[in-house]
Amino acid sequence: MDKDAAEYTSSLIFDRNLFEYDIMTDFAHLIALNECGLISNTELKKLLSLLLQLYREGFNKLEASYDVEDVHIAIEGWLAEKVGNIAGKLQTARSRNDQVATDLRLAMREKLLELLDSLLSFERTILTFAERSSSKLAIGFTHLQHASPITFGHYFLAYFDMLLRDLNRAISAFDVTNRSPLGSGALATSSFRINRKKTAELLGFDSLVENSLDAVSSRDFLLDSTYASLSIMLTLSKLAEDIIIYSTTEFSIFELPDSLSSTSSIMPQKKNPDVAEIVRARTGMVVGEFTSIASILKALPIGYNRDLQEVSVHSFQSVRTATESIRIMNKVVKGLKINEERVREILSDGFSNATDLAEGLVKDYNINFRDAHRIVGKTVKLAIERKKALVDIDPKVLEGVIFEVTGRKVKVDKKYIVQLLNAERVLYERGTGGPSEREVKRMVDERKENLKRVEEEVKRRKSRVDESKKNLFDIVKKIVR
Ligand code: ARG
Repeated sequence: MDKDAAEYTSSLIFDRNLFEYDIMTDFAHLIALNECGLISNTELKKLLSLLLQLYREGFNKLEASYDVEDVHIAIEGWLAEKVGNIAGKLQTARSRNDQVATDLRLAMREKLLELLDSLLSFERTILTFAERSSSKLAIGFTHLQHASPITFGHYFLAYFDMLLRDLNRAISAFDVTNRSPLGSGALATSSFRINRKKTAELLGFDSLVENSLDAVSSRDFLLDSTYASLSIMLTLSKLAEDIIIYSTTEFSIFELPDSLSSTSSIMPQKKNPDVAEIVRARTGMVVGEFTSIASILKALPIGYNRDLQEVSVHSFQSVRTATESIRIMNKVVKGLKINEERVREILSDGFSNATDLAEGLVKDYNINFRDAHRIVGKTVKLAIERKKALVDIDPKVLEGVIFEVTGRKVKVDKKYIVQLLNAERVLYERGTGGPSEREVKRMVDERKENLKRVEEEVKRRKSRVDESKKNLFDIVKKIVR
């Protein structure tokens, strides 16, 4: 190949990520070749011991130049240099097409386990935070306008639940990934009867990607990992945006620890939420990665096409970004200070309890909700004109509006309004899944159980991967000895 073309099409720079997995794939494949008599015991021993040596010495030992097509060629070349002809047997019953698909799956499942580990740890932080702030007053927004008082327990549990769904997406990406394409050959298997189930088991896969054409043509498992990462980033970007807004002087609801914010090089009073801003920006990058992959896969004819190579880098990058972003946001949330005084101050001069006045009119004055909504709307308008909070409105004014809307003369007590609009009472009244301390505590308890269950799920997968890896290396070492 022309040197420039070879360099242009090479995947060697990315393939550093696949190095150790390519060797593991070789191990499993060689053992299977030996089992069906395609290589002798001596050849097996020789090749395994060299590959084990290479594994220990690492990628750089290959000393491959960047016009080498990929890591598979580089390793085969390295072997050929050491043992000559026997190296040529390695590719019996195998193609780089099933090989790279196998390597990618082995590598990605471990990246997903790291992602899951950081996400579980973040979930624990959030749940603790939610529990500690189960009764801490917060403001709920819609359209970024004051909507209703809530609690920070309720607020953080919302993030907990979003991230738990994200976590389940990552687990399901893992399960889609953890299947073996090895033995599919270029697309149609081969005439050698190697045992695909055996290699799958040696590599700790749950099952086969059985159809060999599907196995070499598909990268949807990488799209799944990228989508899981994207959906995590979308959740994190929401939290990041909240943090950015809530920590402005105007809101002053959150305060970031000094160690996680920066200052301006000219304005010493500034405390900037840089981490949250970078999370927000990197979310955009992951959107791009997802789009890149989908665009590469779109209308690609079935069978292996070199385009597939270009999917890998985006999916691994997106998972890395998600993992790093979770880790840093975990720190940010741990260090977050909530200014509850400020929340009370904002709530006291706002109208976030207007719905509760309307609901009170329904319950205690038998007014239908639409009328009650109209009454409170008009009352709020009058309160704003008089520069008063809703709670401070003269009961006579409210009585007047009720008459205007319903034609009914009723008596409203000042004490009634004050009690009705008290934020704690408002919260207390709220129903299932709502912001009351009672509901938050119930939800926290349930979620502690849920989290334990998911932790077990992840642990089970991780142990299986770790054990199979250890097992494979034990087998190899035993043969080499
Ligand atoms: N570097 C390639 C990739 O990542 C490996 C497979 C190459 N196969 C081929 N038929 N050229 O997809």
